[in-house]
Amino acid sequence: MNRQSRVIGAEHVSMAQRAGKQALEIMAGDIVTDLARETAHRLGINLLNGPLERPAIARTDGSKQMMRGLYRRSPHWIDPRKGKVIGKATRLKKLGLIGAGGVGANIAHLAANGDMVDEIALVDIVPGLAESVAMDLNHASGINGSKARASGGMELSAIAGSDVVIVTAGRARSPGMSRSDLININARVIRSAAEAIRSHAPNAIVIVVTNPLDEMTFEMLKATGLPREKVLGMAGTLDSSRFRNALARTANVNPSDVEAITLGSHGDEMAPIVSKAKIKGRPVSLYLSKDQIDACVRDAVTGGGQVVALRKTGSATLAPAHASIELVEHIRGAKAGAVPVSVMLDGEYGIEGVVLGVPCHLGINGIVSVEELTLSPDELAALKAAADAIKKRLGV
Ligand code: 2OP
Repeated sequence: MNRQSRVIGAEHVSMAQRAGKQALEIMAGDIVTDLARETAHRLGINLLNGPLERPAIARTDGSKQMMRGLYRRSPHWIDPRKGKVIGKATRLKKLGLIGAGGVGANIAHLAANGDMVDEIALVDIVPGLAESVAMDLNHASGINGSKARASGGMELSAIAGSDVVIVTAGRARSPGMSRSDLININARVIRSAAEAIRSHAPNAIVIVVTNPLDEMTFEMLKATGLPREKVLGMAGTLDSSRFRNALARTANVNPSDVEAITLGSHGDEMAPIVSKAKIKGRPVSLYLSKDQIDACVRDAVTGGGQVVALRKTGSATLAPAHASIELVEHIRGAKAGAVPVSVMLDGEYGIEGVVLGVPCHLGINGIVSVEELTLSPDELAALKAAADAIKKRLGV
């Protein structure tokens, strides 16, 4: 019988990876897209010419199978695929950081310590700030052995040739301000950063951290003219981490036992996705009451504001820096799986023409695919409400 040839796309490769496979069988006549090859390389999946020899079926007795089933249900069992760290990460040549304040400096520190990049270029309009951070970081290399060389200055052209540019520059909130109060002030900052990226680093992946996040990512996309795959907003990784922290503390488990994401806007319309939240692989409702879960949701939504209220001058720096590095790790292939990022939607979740936090698979060229989760009707409505609110604020 003649078999039909298949078109093997990035989705097939991602599915194989999610199913825990290390190889994908390609039969004669199958067409493999370039994106599928790139995704396979990034995720460490081998594309093997079939037909492959099948191993003999392993027969186990019933009692062994039952033991395995019970072990998986144990509270100590953790899905081995979660947060999979993969071996074939790309080392970046240059990381450009526009903004050398608390978030930018901590990103530089984590990047240098993480041994992921050869060169880190920091830029800030405050005289001496970027130079001082770079110098401070280089001074630590005699202890930590970091190979990354940092430099700092006031000229935006210093980001030339960066593989990834992270933009943290802009005004931070003061107590009592919402992120959206910064829209006009920070849009100007984003436009000058965009001009520099267009002229000096047109091939870079751009990560926007400046608030209001979704609106500034939209502005960056418009001002650079880059394709949506290349312009990402960092918020979902931060908000999800805050949500996981709240759930873990309330349930008295380790944060690594918790899977949870937040989507939507990085603001009042944030949408923590309770229906997908799990503790030790099981629904959170088995561990926590509805009131406790609601409190964790509130904690995630207000987390950034709580730090601003305590700090009085400026916002959080450490968690946003970790969340930004998490995206870099996914871009360079050190980590696999979907991560929430703010991206321009093109019909996914029934939404288009607006930047919003959704789960995405990332690679060395930016977004590989947007993952469409099956959400509860309330969660989908929250996502659409977030999209409408952002569109209204942007006047689109
Ligand atoms: C935060 O949520 C700075 O928006 C950032 O902390």
